[in-house]
Amino acid sequence: MKKNIVLIGFMGVGKGRTARILAEKTGMFAVDCDDLIESFNNKKIKNIFAESGEQTFRELELKVAEWLSNSVKATIISSGGGFYKVPKLNKIGYVVYLHGEFDNIIQGILSHPNAKKKIKKRPLLQDLGQAKKLYDERLSVYRAVADLEVNVDNKDIEEICQEIVESLKGIKR
Ligand code: S3P
Repeated sequence: MKKNIVLIGFMGVGKGRTARILAEKTGMFAVDCDDLIESFNNKKIKNIFAESGEQTFRELELKVAEWLSNSVKATIISSGGGFYKVPKLNKIGYVVYLHGEFDNIIQGILSHPNAKKKIKKRPLLQDLGQAKKLYDERLSVYRAVADLEVNVDNKDIEEICQEIVESLKGIKR
């Protein structure tokens, strides 16, 4: 039975995009935790935060984690930047941490043609000082929960996905 692959990492590092290219390369399906939360609640993440608060959003992440753990196999899962906190993440699948330096991640977002939209949809990216604090707090935990770390700085998406695919060949799945 094939394990899931769970992509974790900071907001804007490219987890969703990486999941889609990996899906294309491996022939596996890809799902996104934030998309699952939005469809389950029929609400955008930013509205869940605004109307019900972050705690409610974190509870929805737990619900998604439970569902993935019980019901999803052989799938690439891109997660939200805070999903690494769910208990027993490794039970869901093989955890790949996409690492980028904070300034590079922010530069990547700001230089995107849809930069405004990308920032607007992320409640925890409204204040860059706060976001940097969050990044610093999370870095060691991302690393601690990951089975594999891939540095994405100065690499194109093809290179990143190739690196992941190569690493996956070496693991027992
Ligand atoms: C969050 C990251 C977001 C989304 C939510 C909270 C976080 O996902 O889950 O806004 O806590 O880092 P992305 O990492 O896709 O931006």
